[in-house]
Amino acid sequence: MTEHEMDKVNSENQPPVNRGYGYETIQLILDIIIVHLHFWYYIFEHIYQLFLKKEEKDVRGEIVLITGAAHGIGKDTALEYASKGATIVCWDINERGNIETVKEIKAMGGKAFAYVCNITKREEILQVAEKVKKEVGFVSILVNNAGIMPCHPLLDHNENEIRMMYDINVLAHFWMIQAFVPEMIEKKHGHIIALSSCAGLFGLKNLVPYCGTKFAVKGVMSSFYEELRTIGLHEHIKLTTIYPYMVDTGLCKKPHFRFKFMKLISPQEVAKTIVSAQRRGIMEMSIPQHYLYLEKFTNFLPRKASEAVNDFLNSGVDSDL
Ligand SMILES: NC(=O)c1ccc[n+]([C@@H]2O[C@H](COP(=O)([O-])OP(=O)(O)OC[C@H]3O[C@@H](n4cnc5c(N)ncnc54)[C@H](O)[C@@H]3O)[C@@H](O)[C@H]2O)c1
Ligand SMILES: *[C@@H]1O[C@H](CO)[C@@H](O)[C@H](O)[C@H]1NC(C)=O
Repeated sequence: MTEHEMDKVNSENQPPVNRGYGYETIQLILDIIIVHLHFWYYIFEHIYQLFLKKEEKDVRGEIVLITGAAHGIGKDTALEYASKGATIVCWDINERGNIETVKEIKAMGGKAFAYVCNITKREEILQVAEKVKKEVGFVSILVNNAGIMPCHPLLDHNENEIRMMYDINVLAHFWMIQAFVPEMIEKKHGHIIALSSCAGLFGLKNLVPYCGTKFAVKGVMSSFYEELRTIGLHEHIKLTTIYPYMVDTGLCKKPHFRFKFMKLISPQEVAKTIVSAQRRGIMEMSIPQHYLYLEKFTNFLPRKASEAVNDFLNSGVDSDL
């Protein structure tokens, strides 16, 4: 294409602007100054905020839906939210356990509702979601918690097990978001909490497919935030991702630790942290808290240096076979 033809194409596609080079240069210089100001402002703001304890929002009047509320972290999170005055909607495939959670909440004077839902099935999620909207109301806080964790070497995992793990630990997050977020957008009010894991920060043996699901949760939440931010909704619809280390719920069947200080965490402690992080609007929280910093630091290290430290600490999970 000759220069003349190029000019013709350009002038056909764009309206004629004739500000010359000066304007664009000034614009660029201004943008560079602005990005510098923002950059340093937000760094100092972050350091300042590290020393402040953010205020915890009131959750009275909110309806909190928790998947996997029959047992473990989900159950304790339900009890914790109920103790703060929220209305709880409990979802699980374990009907008895779910009803037991609701009973315990009612016994302490709270409000709760139980629904059986197998979250591997998109249709079922959408149907039960409609029922909840009619019978209970607008779900403003969604806790995507239900998860499974088969634990053995990669080649001992069968197809069904791997598919089921992705259905529950990853795909269900999409279906839950599709079922509940449109109303949050409409009302410009909502919060989604997702349970990832330290297995979503570090790769671990015997947990290859599981780590994949938990890294996926991290990626989904991080990119969904980016999407909400670009349409200016991130101040109204908040996201929180939680990364617990091994928790004492029975999910983690054969944990091993070389040192006593790295012990199983109680689900009550995890529940308290989840609720507090959500109420303070924190985007990412690990339990213990320093693991998230450890992950960022590890990313700077040469692989073999962090491997040496891991081998020394020698903690993880053994095969359940
Ligand atoms: N326990 C840990 O060590 C640990 C550590 C980090 C992250 N996590 C994550 O925390 C979450 C909760 O774990 P937990 O230890 O409380 O597990 P848990 O096994 O004690 O409870 C999980 C609940 O989810 C329900 N559930 C399973 N499949 C379902 C399905 N198809 N539909 C509906 N409900 C279903 C179960 O019935 C159960 O009540 C999971 O996402 C897990 O990956 C756990
Ligand atoms: C949940 O649905 C899957 C199929 O999508 C099925 O394999 C599994 O057994 C169901 N779980 C229960 C407890 O019904």
